[in-house]
Amino acid sequence: MRKITVAIDGFSSSGKSTMARALARSVGYVYVDSGAMYRAVTLFALRNGLIEDGKVNRDELVNALDDIHISFAPAGADGVQHTLLNGEDVEREIRDMKVSSMVSPVAEIPEVRRRLTAIQKEFGLHKGIVMDGRDIGTSVFPDAEMKVFVNASAEERALRRFRELEEKGEKADFDRVYQNIRERDHIDTTREVSPLRRADDAVELDNGEMTPAQQMEWLMRLFAERSRD
Ligand code: DC
Repeated sequence: MRKITVAIDGFSSSGKSTMARALARSVGYVYVDSGAMYRAVTLFALRNGLIEDGKVNRDELVNALDDIHISFAPAGADGVQHTLLNGEDVEREIRDMKVSSMVSPVAEIPEVRRRLTAIQKEFGLHKGIVMDGRDIGTSVFPDAEMKVFVNASAEERALRRFRELEEKGEKADFDRVYQNIRERDHIDTTREVSPLRRADDAVELDNGEMTPAQQMEWLMRLFAERSRD
């Protein structure tokens, strides 16, 4: 079996992170959640007054990029990977609605994308990595041996996100969650730099009707095929 690079892209809340994390754990690969990196930059901007009245101060954020250091570290009893912003564990905070509602305009900024894409490429230098996001198969790892594009309806995805927020004990309003997903879909697919789209050589998976076990079986089959010497 050769070591490969796995790129998993898809719409917001399509379950791609859960799939990517499970695959990485099962095959002993490194997992990188690229969305968490865009979320961490957004949190930095919110905390430092670089977003006011829902508007991102692009110039100031671009100037501050050198002050933003993002890393990942295992945390908690289960050793699940957490996102660190300048050394601080921000895993919980980056999933807040406040961050979710501002992350797409931040991820649209070309300099932000360029910076994060360069870091992501470095993570993948030695292969043996599963990365999920929006442009992994198209921009970050265009040569990845395994590319998956995950899809599910906006309603299904909003429902999943709503349940996730409820489980975490956060107050959530379904309509707001649904609207946020629709808005992010729109911005993610229409932005100028590396918009969300299926790479020509990606295999599409509509997981709307699949159980986690079925998704895993599907992924493992493709992984075995693509990593065969
Ligand atoms: O996967 P997520 O919902 O945590 O991603 C958060 C945001 O980051 C999403 O609105 C789009 C953006 N993103 C991106 O533009 N490119 C990536 N590779 C990953 C995420």
